[in-house]
Amino acid sequence: MSGHGTPIPMTSRPCGPLKGTANVPGDKSISHRSLILGALCVGETRITGLLEGDDVLDTAKAMRAFGATVTDHGGGEWTVSGVGVGGFAEPQNIIDCGNSGTGVRLIMGAMATSPIATTFTGDASLNGRPMGRVTDPLALFGTQAVGREGGRLPMTLVGAAEPVPVRYTVPVPSAQVKSAVLLAGLNAPGQTVVIEKEATRDHTERMLQGFGATLHVEETDEGRVITLDGQPELAPQTIIVPRDPSSAAFPVCAALIVPGSDVLVPNIGLNPTRAGLFTTLQEMGADLTFENMREEGGEPVADLRAKFSPNLKGIAVPPERAASMIDEYPVLSVVASFAEGVTDMRGVKELRVKESDRIDAMAKGLRTAGVQVDEGPDWWQVTGLGHGNVPGGATVASVLDHRIAMAFAVMGMATQKPIHIDDGSPIATSFPIFEGLMADLGAQIVRTNS
Ligand code: S3P
Repeated sequence: MSGHGTPIPMTSRPCGPLKGTANVPGDKSISHRSLILGALCVGETRITGLLEGDDVLDTAKAMRAFGATVTDHGGGEWTVSGVGVGGFAEPQNIIDCGNSGTGVRLIMGAMATSPIATTFTGDASLNGRPMGRVTDPLALFGTQAVGREGGRLPMTLVGAAEPVPVRYTVPVPSAQVKSAVLLAGLNAPGQTVVIEKEATRDHTERMLQGFGATLHVEETDEGRVITLDGQPELAPQTIIVPRDPSSAAFPVCAALIVPGSDVLVPNIGLNPTRAGLFTTLQEMGADLTFENMREEGGEPVADLRAKFSPNLKGIAVPPERAASMIDEYPVLSVVASFAEGVTDMRGVKELRVKESDRIDAMAKGLRTAGVQVDEGPDWWQVTGLGHGNVPGGATVASVLDHRIAMAFAVMGMATQKPIHIDDGSPIATSFPIFEGLMADLGAQIVRTNS
């Protein structure tokens, strides 16, 4: 089964040291938001370093369907001529967001307070994911939604013709839900307030401020209270998209487990709401150094050097760190397999509703590769075998999930025997240059016939 065309089976073989510079693509979260916010201002937004993965390209297509002019100038340079807050036109056709939960949920928010109807769909993975977490708060603005059983896509939303502002406490730690409510609040009169009990990635808040919205954040006993003044005139921006720390995680983790490796990953976004993996790896004993710390486009950025780390130790990852590394648990579980002792990961229920059930997908593959994994509804534990002792020799399923495919590709670089991945095609959603970039560093990932 593949939602991305023909399956691409891959084999990742044990390899020699990884060396060189890994120029990973632009940040996926910031890329989606650049296109959507660009579409919500009148005038031209210029974007440099946009991630040209399938997820973001689907969002670009969607913005065109709502009336924005989105132009690819080549080499990661894009412009968006937007229609302004409240200016979305009704799309003539169904909006297909492919594999992207971020795309569909943010776009739902952006159209929810305009008097237009839109039908959304996606691939088999996205059509299995819960949308009620977004349509429930959007209903408070006056938005109607009709979808499949369990709040699943395909789903039609009718935007509120006379939206009212909303005060909403997000019940799960989700930047997508928070962002959908804030984007809907843009076209509601008065103040929309979103409260999150646990801080999640704050790109939407930073970028809304950058585009000229009046938005305040206050830390209170209730949590993080975000107040947005509705109906602003957003002003077009020039955006330099930092490279994605979630993509950097793959060459970084590979360098830690492949003997002799030394890899530099320049220009990585190190927003504290995203950087939890690197803290965790350092606590495990990883040789990581941050060089040239600076700020670019309102986001902290650094060059990250990762070297082979032969003495990694399992740790208990603090649950309160989960939101800042939620997309990195699959590859962390791979590193944990090569560490000595148990890595304990708790407070991670959200992993079960990502592009796949990521605990289940990783646990199944890791066990087939000879690693012990124990799990519960919101926790899992990997018992590491230590460097050089992980058998591998397994065929694993990527279950339409790019990060599962890439995590196992990293694993195969340091197991005793290769790892075969049934379908590497989902990698194109977030990291289309993954195979070439890893090959340039010295990895041996080959496409194989099924
Ligand atoms: C994202 C938020 C996270 C993350 C996803 C990107 C975003 O999802 O897993 O890859 O850009 O807002 P949740 O909001 O569901 O936690």
